[in-house]
Amino acid sequence: MKGLILSGGKGTRLYPLTYSKAKQLIPVANKPVLFRVIESIRDAGITDIGIVVGQTAPEIMEAVGRGGRWGVQITYIPQPEPKGLAHAVQISEEFLGDDRFVMFLGDNVIQGGISPLIAEFAGSAWNSQIVLTRIAHPEQYGVAELNSDGSIKRLIEKPKEPPSDLALVGIYMFDHHVLQAVKEIKPSWRDEYEITDAIQWLVDHQFAVHPYIHRGWWIDTGRPDDMLEANDLVLEEIDYRVDGYVDSQSQVDRRVTVERGAEIINSVVRGPSIIGENTRIVNSYIGPFTSIYHHVLVENSEIEHSIVLEHTQIQDIQGRIQDSLIGRHAVISRSPTKPTSHKLALGDYSQVGIL
Ligand code: DAU
Repeated sequence: MKGLILSGGKGTRLYPLTYSKAKQLIPVANKPVLFRVIESIRDAGITDIGIVVGQTAPEIMEAVGRGGRWGVQITYIPQPEPKGLAHAVQISEEFLGDDRFVMFLGDNVIQGGISPLIAEFAGSAWNSQIVLTRIAHPEQYGVAELNSDGSIKRLIEKPKEPPSDLALVGIYMFDHHVLQAVKEIKPSWRDEYEITDAIQWLVDHQFAVHPYIHRGWWIDTGRPDDMLEANDLVLEEIDYRVDGYVDSQSQVDRRVTVERGAEIINSVVRGPSIIGENTRIVNSYIGPFTSIYHHVLVENSEIEHSIVLEHTQIQDIQGRIQDSLIGRHAVISRSPTKPTSHKLALGDYSQVGIL
């Protein structure tokens, strides 16, 4: 089997972070979501992986490379415009050939491995297997309606009135018949070639599409709140280790990872949390569910339930920062000049909550 990861698209819902960074490279518990996807596919024994890339191709190629780090071989498939998930499959035809494959959306995070699922599909006669899960707001996703015998009745992309609470998770398994399906369908109301429509085409043409119901958690990291939620869930599951330095004045919980070169000085760090490589936490409080990426400085400040990206500095902040997603190279500090005021230099689409 082969793997196909979709890592194109624009990521507009995560502005301003995704002005300068591909959304699939935003880290959850200090590891980019895309790396987690590659590892899931590799763990299922698949080493031949194609990645569909769009306008953020250079950044993704630089971060991922040729795959040697994971023991896989990566082929990049450029998609000139984000014309939909089915379009991404269509342009991958040469890479896919006649092989069965798993397609994984590069911004999805799912609990547990997908190995058993892929093994089941590899050994089956099904033409496709889709993954469904019950959620509270299915209207934001592809939605499945099942027949009373559990087979698929119909699939609809982002319906205003969902016929069920079963959302399509961004993991799909196909044989080569999907290549015919993606050519037969028409663009949707949002002018995209929808994979949901291609799967519906397979169902309508009597191909065997097996619905698997996933019972653990699953997050599509489309919006900032989703990133924080994915971060919460993954932080609960990582292996905790202290590879950095913790001084004798600091208190660091058991459920905290301190990565190589990090320093915790006269601070309290409550888990689950992760402190990235070469990051310094000085005279500060880091609360639960916080991921601080590499080369960050937090000094005389308090932060919890947040994600802080690389090379950012947070200094001398009064009051606690929480529920925040802070980008790269940001500087947050007390302004020494009078009059006392909030002095901001924010990027487009930034959101700041001030007391
Ligand atoms: O996350 C699950 C949902 O993903 C499913 O429930 C929906 O049925 C499916 O259509 C999809 O919905 P989204 O609207 O959330 O997809 P999004 O545009 O966020 O794209 C998903 C990934 O695919 C993302 O990593 C970007 C990439 N992509 C997207 C498009 C439209 C491409 O590589 N090329 C594209 O043309």
